[in-house]
Amino acid sequence: MKDQISSSPEKLPPALECRDVGRTFMIKRGMFAQKQPLKAVQDINLKINRGDVLAIVGESGCGKTTLAQMLLGLLQPTNGEILLDGQPINSISIKEIATKVQPVFQDPYSSLNPRKTIEQIILLPLIVHKIGTVKDRRERVEKYMRLVGLPKRLVHSYPNQLSGGQRQRVAIARALIMEPKIVVCDEPTSALDVSVQAHILNLLQDLRTKLDLTYAFISHDLAVVEHLADSVAVMYLGRLIEFGKAADIFSNPQHPYTRALLDSVLTPDPSLGLPKITLGKGLPNPLSPPSGCYFHPRCPEATEECHQHTPVLKDTGERLVECHLH
Ligand SMILES: Nc1ncnc2c1ncn2[C@@H]1O[C@H](COP(=O)(O)OP(=O)(O)OP(=O)(O)O)[C@@H](O)[C@H]1O
Ligand SMILES: [Mg+2]
Repeated sequence: MKDQISSSPEKLPPALECRDVGRTFMIKRGMFAQKQPLKAVQDINLKINRGDVLAIVGESGCGKTTLAQMLLGLLQPTNGEILLDGQPINSISIKEIATKVQPVFQDPYSSLNPRKTIEQIILLPLIVHKIGTVKDRRERVEKYMRLVGLPKRLVHSYPNQLSGGQRQRVAIARALIMEPKIVVCDEPTSALDVSVQAHILNLLQDLRTKLDLTYAFISHDLAVVEHLADSVAVMYLGRLIEFGKAADIFSNPQHPYTRALLDSVLTPDPSLGLPKITLGKGLPNPLSPPSGCYFHPRCPEATEECHQHTPVLKDTGERLVECHLH
């Protein structure tokens, strides 16, 4: 992968790197059926340089969360390796991983313990990893509540007394209290009202500058990532099918799937109603993926070659595209 795709000029190792990373789950379809392999993530090569925001986009089931779990060291790849600051993640202790990379998940309703106060929730990682004195911990909670825009008076409240947006701010404060440099956000706004989504995205943008953070930002919605991402990785059925600078992907998507994703979110006039869905058929079953290019059954431009041969990811300097037509 060419380094110029990233906007970071540093020579330091990337904050996160995937080398041929794959994850296969063994799935049983029926009580007496044999287990079958489901390739949730296949041979992904990616780099996220320090200070960059990499957006990982694709439809439901394409492997985004599986990849996120591996980036966080919560799930082992079945093949390939993940490097954190240039070090294989499986050679780093859980405590050290937690000080370098932290998650923000999709659903602030289920990810916060309803029986704990906001203070207890935010400082839990410090207790788990035995960091700081009681006084230090209190001060850190105050600092991060202020940074994420939570009023101090909520410190002894419970999650059910907060709005959805406030709960997601709690989840962000909990992630930041370990002072990580990398945050993996898995659909951090998709469970929130549209009006609140923009506030949380602005907050993440703000924190990125203030705290010098690097983000892996996962979303199924290209419109959400447009203003945040430096680079974009598009996944389809576990494969990376296009990767490039965000501005280039948005102005000139090359893979027919990326074009279809963009078409489905870009409504010129909201009063026109729902955007046209150009993908037609539904997503194929990942347990028996199509022959050749996985996207060919839904691709408006597919040729005979696309039916028969799997394309390789081509590096065109500024862009990686896995498509026979490029
Ligand atoms: N623990 C697991 N055991 C078996 N299969 C799994 C497991 N986790 C994920 N999968 C399968 O792997 C594929 C990728 O799932 P994943 O959750 O990573 O997708 P996703 O892109 O995050 O989807 P969504 O947008 O709905 O969150 C899916 O087919 C899913 O059913
Ligand atoms: Mg997911």
